[in-house]
Amino acid sequence: MNRIARFVVAALAIVVGLHYLLAFTHEGYAKATSFPLGKSSTTASPSTSESKDHRVLENVVSTPLNEGAHVDAFPTSPQLANATFIILCRNSDLASTIRSVREIEDRFNHRYGYPYVFLNEVPFTTQFQERLGNVVNKKSKVEFGVIPHEHWYQPDHIDEDKAKAGREKMQKDNVIYGGSVSYRNMCRFNSGFFFRHPLVQKYRWYWRIEPDVHFHCDINHDPFRYMEDHGKTYGFTITMYEYEATIQTLWSTVKSFMSKHPEYIAPDNALGFMEKEDGKYNLCHFWSNFEIADMDFWRGEAYTKFFEYLDEQGGFYYERWGDAPVHSIGAAIFLNRTQIHFFDEIGYEHNPYTHCPKLGTNWKDGRCSCDPAKSFDYDGYSCMAKWDKFMGLPNN
Ligand SMILES: *[C@@H]1O[C@H](CO)[C@@H](O)[C@H](O)[C@H]1NC(C)=O
Ligand SMILES: *[C@@H]1O[C@H](CO)[C@@H](O)[C@H](O)[C@H]1NC(C)=O
Repeated sequence: MNRIARFVVAALAIVVGLHYLLAFTHEGYAKATSFPLGKSSTTASPSTSESKDHRVLENVVSTPLNEGAHVDAFPTSPQLANATFIILCRNSDLASTIRSVREIEDRFNHRYGYPYVFLNEVPFTTQFQERLGNVVNKKSKVEFGVIPHEHWYQPDHIDEDKAKAGREKMQKDNVIYGGSVSYRNMCRFNSGFFFRHPLVQKYRWYWRIEPDVHFHCDINHDPFRYMEDHGKTYGFTITMYEYEATIQTLWSTVKSFMSKHPEYIAPDNALGFMEKEDGKYNLCHFWSNFEIADMDFWRGEAYTKFFEYLDEQGGFYYERWGDAPVHSIGAAIFLNRTQIHFFDEIGYEHNPYTHCPKLGTNWKDGRCSCDPAKSFDYDGYSCMAKWDKFMGLPNN
């Protein structure tokens, strides 16, 4: 009896001791994790003279943190930009949307509390709203909107017989989403309407997120504020070639718009990134499933006229013009090329491609889980090397 009692006391002592030990290290960990956020702004840029590489962050304004506060619970909000996440998705995308939001929350937004706008062509179910609301931090406003009919469905000026013939041909040629009308609705909506949605209109900046994407690194600064503070308008992580079959007449339509409206063409534009020596389109574009950009640019006169012109020609339905080439070409024509920003430090994956940070100390600073050797950037299908060359950046 006596021995058993002593054994029990000893075991209890060990358990209690372990408990204190764990509590102590946990607290130590919590303190440690609150530190790198403030630090990262200075470590992100390697010392200067040899590299004028604009892809490496310089002078990033990091969000002020209350000293000693746990990252999850600091009481005062940082100074947020006029910005929101925008997620176009369906009720059936519930699980994959939760995964995307969970990752952006964990890697970035739980420290900031930027709002979310979810958009759908039909109302979101109560379950969808509850499940998403549960994943997002309590500081963030979360709104769910229905897309107005006229922003989504095929407009009346489209000749349906011609559109149908186009779909059938593409389906026969095995073009991805070649036979889909709803995919076309989505591309047109993303090209010309998302920034006009009533729930979105109150914001200037957006970060586009899709179901089933991945964020592989901590984002230790505020990309919206970076854009605003550095005069950027359009931000990307992946650039690649478009399927030519989907945009047969897009470039000639763009050219005819440009000859009608030379007044909108920016002097230091980025057309040289996309145009071949023979004047044809080299198919390079920014992959628009990730975008951080200024909606006031899409809302402005030049892009509005541009979109309306493209929409009148009907290529969103007769062919299958994607919002990625449409946004990219618009940005390339109407912006100074220095307003287009490559976010190296944002590790991002949309099946089947991953951008994994490679520059400076971005990969380390971001605690990235991706393999930089498998980054898509210098894959044969990527346009990144072209972009670097066009921008006069050192090759990696
Ligand atoms: C945010 O941006 C939108 C679009 O530019 C603008 O209408 C709105 O007034 C801005 N809100 C604030 C608080 O500045
Ligand atoms: C384009 O941007 C660069 C860098 O900000 C600037 O030096 C140049 O003057 C701009 N070009 C025009 C035409 O404004």
